[in-house]
Amino acid sequence: MSSVALDVRLSDRVANARPSATGAVGEMARRLISQGRSVISLSEGELDFDTPAHIQHAAIKGIVEGQTRYTSVGGTPALKQAVITKFRQDNELDYAPEEVIAATGAKQILFNALLATVNAGDEAIVVAPFWVSYTEMVRIAGGEPIVVTPSERDDFKLTPEALAAHITPRTRWLMLNTPCNPSGAMYSRAELRALADVVRAHPRLLVLSDDIYEKIVFEGEFCSFAQAAPDMRDRTLTVNGVSKSYAMTGWRLGYAGGPNWLIKAMELLQSQSTSNPSSVSQVAAVAALNGPQGFLDDWRDRLRARRDMAMTILQPAAPMLTVSRPPAAFYLYVCCAGAIGCKTPKDDFIGSDADLARYLLEEGGVAVVPGAAFGLEPYIRLTFALSDERLKLACERIVAACAQLKRD
Ligand SMILES: Cc1ncc(COP(=O)(O)O)c(C=O)c1O
Repeated sequence: MSSVALDVRLSDRVANARPSATGAVGEMARRLISQGRSVISLSEGELDFDTPAHIQHAAIKGIVEGQTRYTSVGGTPALKQAVITKFRQDNELDYAPEEVIAATGAKQILFNALLATVNAGDEAIVVAPFWVSYTEMVRIAGGEPIVVTPSERDDFKLTPEALAAHITPRTRWLMLNTPCNPSGAMYSRAELRALADVVRAHPRLLVLSDDIYEKIVFEGEFCSFAQAAPDMRDRTLTVNGVSKSYAMTGWRLGYAGGPNWLIKAMELLQSQSTSNPSSVSQVAAVAALNGPQGFLDDWRDRLRARRDMAMTILQPAAPMLTVSRPPAAFYLYVCCAGAIGCKTPKDDFIGSDADLARYLLEEGGVAVVPGAAFGLEPYIRLTFALSDERLKLACERIVAACAQLKRD
């Protein structure tokens, strides 16, 4: 029997995409832990709190009462209504049921939106540092991410001038994430209006406003893009979800509001891929959105205290590490320029933030994500959404590991 070599080439779409770097760090940390090493992971993008009890119980009741079947692709009427009410109350945005959609995480919302609108050669403006998936999703959709890097002096925020300079006839999307993962940067109403003034002149340009960290704001007031500039409503996809606000990452439930032509196209894609998001998760999301919100104040206070504690403990690591205070979200995006060019006690050279992350993991027992993953080096991202004790220990380990670095 002649053996014919199997053709294992992947599609260009997949060959051009990179796996998630945050996932890779988590994987490395898990490997060390399985070898018996003590590792604290500051690499995860999720709260350590449990999903609140009233949401858990609503989901259990939903299962018992048989809410376990297919639903409408874009979400049940009850969930759509809860989303509409949320957008109206929190964001002064009025959407009709045919202008909202629920999906399997905000991730699927973003994916659907890009697949529905991006043709080969189209461009999407992405602001660095950015959430790791933005650029790869644009690539998978066949487009080209155009990365704009504001300076840390501008608090990592896109200026109208920089936006105007990067728009071309091929630009399809401006992808805004406020508050931002990983920098915590949050745009004011006035800053969003100034960006809208640039967008207005470009009829082809759509705006994706990823507001998933909306509820985790320590200083300042959150404003969504279309809320700041209501005339942008019909070209804006306002994206949100229950993952970060309600400690529900595993439930996989995201939602969005936008113009009907776009929502309809996203629903078409979803109908041919995953259909409705989990029926049980939809019941839970209704309970999250319609239920009491008071616990969020307590969560915010606890997270603020952790942020401030981490910053205080990390102070002695300067000038290797310099940390600016994020007004929102649950990450520190730490500049590590001062550590580049140093040598470790084993004489390994720290030439990049990835080298520093590897050293902190292997010798310090702390997993962090290198800034390269977020499109801005040399930085490391640390989450502070873990218990006070573990966070304190992790930061102390980082300081101790940095103290061992030597410059030639
Ligand atoms: C900025 C940003 N957008 C979207 C998501 C996706 O969230 P979901 O769990 O709803 O898919 C994340 C998750 O880390 C995120 O950080």
